[in-house]
Amino acid sequence: MAATLITGISELWTFDPALEDPSAPPRGMSDGQLLSDAAVVIDSGHIAWIGPASEAPAADNQVDLGGRAVLPGWVDSHTHLVFAGDRSAEFEARMAGESYAAGGIAVTTGATRAARDEELLALVRSRITEAMRGGTTCLETKTGYGLTVDEEARAARLLAQLHAAGEIDEITYLGAHLVPGEFEGRGEEYVDLVAGPMLEAVQDAAGPALRWIDVFCEDGAFDSEQSTRVLRAGADAGLGLRVHGNQLGRTGGVQLACDLGAASVDHLNHLDPADVDALAATAALPVAPGEEPGVLDARTGPTVATVLPACDLSTRAPLAPARELLEAGAPLAIASNCNPGTSYTSSLAFCVATAVLQMRLTLAEAVRAATRGGALALRRNDVGHLGVGARADLHVLDAPAAIHLAYRPGMPLTHAVWRRGTRVL
Ligand code: NIG
Repeated sequence: MAATLITGISELWTFDPALEDPSAPPRGMSDGQLLSDAAVVIDSGHIAWIGPASEAPAADNQVDLGGRAVLPGWVDSHTHLVFAGDRSAEFEARMAGESYAAGGIAVTTGATRAARDEELLALVRSRITEAMRGGTTCLETKTGYGLTVDEEARAARLLAQLHAAGEIDEITYLGAHLVPGEFEGRGEEYVDLVAGPMLEAVQDAAGPALRWIDVFCEDGAFDSEQSTRVLRAGADAGLGLRVHGNQLGRTGGVQLACDLGAASVDHLNHLDPADVDALAATAALPVAPGEEPGVLDARTGPTVATVLPACDLSTRAPLAPARELLEAGAPLAIASNCNPGTSYTSSLAFCVATAVLQMRLTLAEAVRAATRGGALALRRNDVGHLGVGARADLHVLDAPAAIHLAYRPGMPLTHAVWRRGTRVL
């Protein structure tokens, strides 16, 4: 593949891990990770060189960005893109005073089951495109709106197709999203299914592309004991763990995630100090190499505290205490949680702006959480930074400085995107 030299970069946010002390990863930016008047060379899908424009080597092609800021592409570690149907009326009712309840998932489940494969694939693809147009270059997404053996396996199969085509990066099995209507009053039986035959069918359908199992540990969904059962079955089957926890109350999700070594616990609207301490205590846990370069072992490492600012706004929940988590030393990620019920946006620019304006993070802390933080939550080290050797995933802002993300919230600031070394916008 021909090498491309990219110049005209007013600010280059590299978050280059080579410039960090691995025993004390920073919360924002370290010395040397922000370059001005910079250049990048990309070759064979990877970053081949970064440095001052005045020292840039020659390359086969050249692109001049005209004085724009460049960040690593966003790493969105939490989305639910496999769904059909519309829940805007539920959102409207919520804005008129109703509160969010997990039961809305059933509405989407009905519509998703009724959609044909081609329809679902087209819907997922259009959502991936929307995310990419906003600068997202690495994306996780979940099953979880099928909730029968066949339907969860179908969602996994469709996602594996997109994974094989390189369109998504990470797949999560979320059979434990809600006890479906047909199992009403028989939650334990449904957990048996999720942890047994459904898990097997989903693994068969997705193959090795499936790396994660997730559970919605919450009142109205699955309690701690049921969540533990599901997660242990996933771990026994070789999957890494993720948890939806402490969204609607203090229901034990954080503790469970930390105890079981989950890669991430997401939502975190209701934390007590013990939860914050438990997350911070995982920060020093080492990661381990995985089977492919850039993909770490899914089962070893810190439990990342993943906050979902767009979801907090859309459900009028108390904002997750991102500042407090960072101060305590917890590893932090920001994700979109794009889904039809609680957060129908994939805009990480919006999430980052909200984290700065409302959660009181600095821009560097917020951008890092939506790039390196997301990568750690997915236990990857090939994305979320622009150090030499990283995947060439670049997000070019139509602005001379990245602070415009918070200074001009809601504006279309994505000028160009490279993913795996190819310009996709
Ligand atoms: O992450 N909390 C559970 N799952 C989704 C919401 C799903 C829905 O309401 O459809 C979430 O917010």
